[in-house]
Amino acid sequence: MGEPPPDGLQRILIPADPLTARTRELGREISEHYGDRVPVLVGVLKGAIVFLADLMRAVDVPVECDFIAVSSYGRASRSSGVVKLVADLSLPIEGREVLIVEDIVDTGRTLAYLQRNLETRQPRSVRVCTLLDKAARREVPVALHHVGFTIPDEFVVGYGLDYAGRFRNLPYIAVLDQGHPSGP
Ligand code: IMP
Repeated sequence: MGEPPPDGLQRILIPADPLTARTRELGREISEHYGDRVPVLVGVLKGAIVFLADLMRAVDVPVECDFIAVSSYGRASRSSGVVKLVADLSLPIEGREVLIVEDIVDTGRTLAYLQRNLETRQPRSVRVCTLLDKAARREVPVALHHVGFTIPDEFVVGYGLDYAGRFRNLPYIAVLDQGHPSGP
């Protein structure tokens, strides 16, 4: 038995080792797909930073990276459904191969917005790599090209994902304790 999870967490869903192993596999898939076509990995701030940092080191072909930020849940654990661009890319992506790197796809609204937004800039392609897929919650159909783990409908934190700004630094994915005083 491992250590009990810290206060505010119910249980560890994906420990650090499986996260590392799956991220390496995704890196191989991505390397095979792009070969020498130099994609721009677009990390969706802030949740994807930890995953992107590990993923890009698992890719053994040349890549560039950039970041984009969209409005997220704020302090609530369910999306309002309204998505807004908060910070834009620093690179032009016209004619480029773009790989959106997400922490989690839930309803699909954020991703659908991002895909629409990036497509208007005439990239050569837009593909998606997400660490987590909460498939049962999908409201908007979105194509996911590389998926780390499909997870149940539970609110998860850690490895970049937060609740009210907390827990991003955990090296594993854990389920938030919804009944805890600091929970939603
Ligand atoms: P969607 O637009 O409903 O697909 O939500 C996507 C965004 O909501 C993600 O990029 C996360 O920021 C946030 N989100 C959805 N589910 C979770 C979760 O279980 N934990 C933490 N953040 C989540």
